[in-house]
Amino acid sequence: MIALQNHLPRLRVPWVPIGRWPTPLTALDLERSETEGGDPDGSTRGARGSAPCRIERSEAAGGDPYDSPGAAWGRAPRGIERSETEGGDPDGSTRGARGRVPRGIERSEAAAEAPDRSAGGAGGRLPRGIHRSETGAGDPDGSAGGAGARGPRGLAGAPVWVKHEGDAHPEYGGNKVRTLEVWLGHARAVGARRIWAIGAYGSNHAVATVLHAPRAGLEGAAIVFPQPISAWAVENCRALIASGCPLIRLRSVIGVPLAAWRVARRERDAVVMPPGGATAIGTFGALAAAFELADQIAAGLAPPPRRIVLAVGSTCTAAGLVAGLELARAIGLWRWPVPIVHGVRVTPWPVTSRVRTAELARRTLVRVERLGGPPVAIGLAGLIGRLVIDGRELGPGYGRSTPQCDAAMRALHGPECPRLDAVYSGKAAAALLRLHRAGVGPLLFWASKSSATLRAPADEVLRNAPPAIARWLRRAEDR
Ligand SMILES: Cc1ncc(COP(=O)(O)O)c(C=O)c1O
Repeated sequence: MIALQNHLPRLRVPWVPIGRWPTPLTALDLERSETEGGDPDGSTRGARGSAPCRIERSEAAGGDPYDSPGAAWGRAPRGIERSETEGGDPDGSTRGARGRVPRGIERSEAAAEAPDRSAGGAGGRLPRGIHRSETGAGDPDGSAGGAGARGPRGLAGAPVWVKHEGDAHPEYGGNKVRTLEVWLGHARAVGARRIWAIGAYGSNHAVATVLHAPRAGLEGAAIVFPQPISAWAVENCRALIASGCPLIRLRSVIGVPLAAWRVARRERDAVVMPPGGATAIGTFGALAAAFELADQIAAGLAPPPRRIVLAVGSTCTAAGLVAGLELARAIGLWRWPVPIVHGVRVTPWPVTSRVRTAELARRTLVRVERLGGPPVAIGLAGLIGRLVIDGRELGPGYGRSTPQCDAAMRALHGPECPRLDAVYSGKAAAALLRLHRAGVGPLLFWASKSSATLRAPADEVLRNAPPAIARWLRRAEDR
C-alpha cells in the first residue's frame, strides 16, 4: 500500500503495514527450461533438475526502485517485436480459417488491446487476445501439450521477469499479504476484534490471516473445507491447527455461505472475509502492487511487460491488478502500453469467470473514486479486454496437479527461482512456460506462493485438530 499512498496521498484507505515492500523484481533465464518445454512426463527431468533457471539481474532483488533510476535491465528480450507474419498459427489445425478461440481462453479477451494492435493489418487469424507484435510462434494459448515437438521459438533465450510476492514476509509471504493488509485495516477501522478467513484446509489466505492478524492486534480465525491432499495443503493445514486459532470445519465448500452468515450474525465484533478476501476491500492490495510495479519499471528493473501471468483463485489479485494498472495509467504513472493480466484458472468457472473478475476490478475503481481518488474512464467491457482467463492448466480441478504443472515446477526449480506449489503458482508457471515457448513477451510472472516454508508442528499439537481434519492429515501421512 505504500506505493499507492505515495502517489495518491489523499486516498484514504485504512491498512496495516505487514509486508516488506517493494517485493523484488528479477529476471529469470528460461533458456534451458524452454528447450525442454514439451516434457510433460518428465523424461528430461535429469537435465532440467541439474541446471534450473538462472537469475540475470540479481541486483534488483530487494532493491529500492528509487535507488536505481534508469538502470538497464539486461538484454532486451529477443523476438518481441516480431513481424506480424509470424502471428499465424503454424500448426493451428484445430482453429482453421475461422480463427476459433483456443480451448480455455475466453472469447472477448482482445477487446481492449486496441492501442497495441496497430500492426495487426489483415486478418484476425491470431488467437484472440494475442497481439501480433508479441507473438513469435503465434499460438501461445494453444500449445500446452505438444510444444516440445515444435521447439522453442520467438523468445528463445529471452528472460522472463518475476515479481517475488513470496518474499513479502519472512515468516509467511505470498500474494495474500497484500490482501490482508487492507482487510486488517478495515477490521480495525470498524472496531473488530477478530477476523475470519474462509478457504480450503490448506488455504494460504487462511494461514496468512491467522499468522498476521495478531500484528494488527486482532485474532485470526478460519472456516475451512476439504481439498485434495498435497504437500502444500498439508503444510498449511498443519500450521493452521498449530496456530490454535478458532476453526470451523465444513463438510464441503457448499456450506460456506451459510457458515459465513452464521458467524457474522453471532459475532458482532468480527469481520468475515469471503474466500480469498475477494471484495473491493481486498483488491486494494493488488491495486497498490500495480503502483509498486510501475515504480520498479520506471526505475529500470524490468521492461514494461506485455503480460502479467498469475494464478487466479478467488480473483482478488487479478482484479486488483487490472484495476491498479488502469488507475496508474489514468494518473500518468503507468506510461507504457497497459499489459494484459493473464490469469491462470486454478478454481473453476464461474468463480473465475472473466466477467466476474472484471466486474470486481470495476467495483474497485468505483471505490477508489468514492474514497477520494481520481475517476478512471474505463467501463466493464474495457476491463474485460484487459484480462485473459486461461483455463488450460486447471486439469482435474482445484488442488490437483497436472503433468504440465509438475513439469513447470521441475523446470523452475532452484535457489534463484520462486517457490512454486501445485495448487496455484505451479499451474501459472505452466502457462508462463507455454507463453514463453510461443514467443510472447516480455512476460512478468507474479510469483504468489510464500517463499517461506512453514515449520511442521509437533505431533501432539495436531491432536487438537477437529477429528475430520485429523483423519485427513493421517491419510496424507499414510500416502
Ligand atoms: C499462492 C497463491 N497464488 C495465487 C492465488 C490466487 O489469488 P486470488 O485468490 O487473489 O485469485 C492464491 C489464493 O489464495 C494463492 O494462495
